[in-house]
Amino acid sequence: MKALLEVLEPGDPDWELAHAIDPSRLPAHIAIIMDGNGRWAGRRHLPRVAGHQAGVAPVRATVETCARLGVKVLTLYAFSVENWKRPRAEVETLWRLLRYYLRQELPDLQKNDVRLQAIGRLDALPDAVRRELDFVIDATSANRGLLVNLAINYGGRAEIVDAVNAILEMARLDGSIGSLRLDEESIGANLYANACPDPDLLIRTSGEMRISNFLLWQIAYAELYVTGTLWPDFCRRDLLRAILEYQKRDRRYGGLSTGLPARSTELPAQPTGSGEPLVGALRPS
Ligand code: FPP
Repeated sequence: MKALLEVLEPGDPDWELAHAIDPSRLPAHIAIIMDGNGRWAGRRHLPRVAGHQAGVAPVRATVETCARLGVKVLTLYAFSVENWKRPRAEVETLWRLLRYYLRQELPDLQKNDVRLQAIGRLDALPDAVRRELDFVIDATSANRGLLVNLAINYGGRAEIVDAVNAILEMARLDGSIGSLRLDEESIGANLYANACPDPDLLIRTSGEMRISNFLLWQIAYAELYVTGTLWPDFCRRDLLRAILEYQKRDRRYGGLSTGLPARSTELPAQPTGSGEPLVGALRPS
């Protein structure tokens, strides 16, 4: 597939932003809490499900842009373990949309060398969703480009509990339970997507300052970027802005600065009303 810089024309509004990104310092793993579908619909006096429907196009665009940029892993929070509390009709719409997305996207995923994987308590998914998911996971398993992790029936606490139970079960089976000691390595190795690097950049749309039980273990040192843009309005420009903001951060992992200059690129002027990072100045130590 063509790189992003190859498909953008000089007059394209994203041209300048894309050129400002340092390709050698891309986040290897971007995780996104896709929030604001309901509010997007509410502002248009539409039912909430219309917001979810409008949320499919930005999923597609984000996958494509990450693949074109050379990002290694993209994790999208599609359905949390808590989302079952929503009205049944809304939950069913989310399953329908997921199946629609999987069916529609398979040819493009193949063409773009994208591998799909899912994390979460997948056994509890409706059979039809599980079948479609397994089919696409299997069909894309040999692809070597971007890895897309769909977090479905996912909870960060549930994931840690499942990891610990898997370790206990293995120790029970091999008789080592008496001397079992857990450490970060053993828990990390038993998380759902244990082969993935931790997210470098966590994006949340719609302005809420919450983690919402997402990747609790893995985001220990992720850079946070919250934008007021509602998910259905999230576009390539928003993603490029988030990456540029990430490249300005000084990541210290609790240590001292490496002395390497954080990227100082000034962002080109942005249109009013959308995309401003709400916690752009957050500097974790
Ligand atoms: C949060 O918005 C969004 C979700 C719970 C579902 C995310 C689903 C999509 C983006 C649809 C398509 C997804 C895939 C993977 C094809 P919300 O409903 O909580 O919004 P609100 O906070 O404004 O009510």
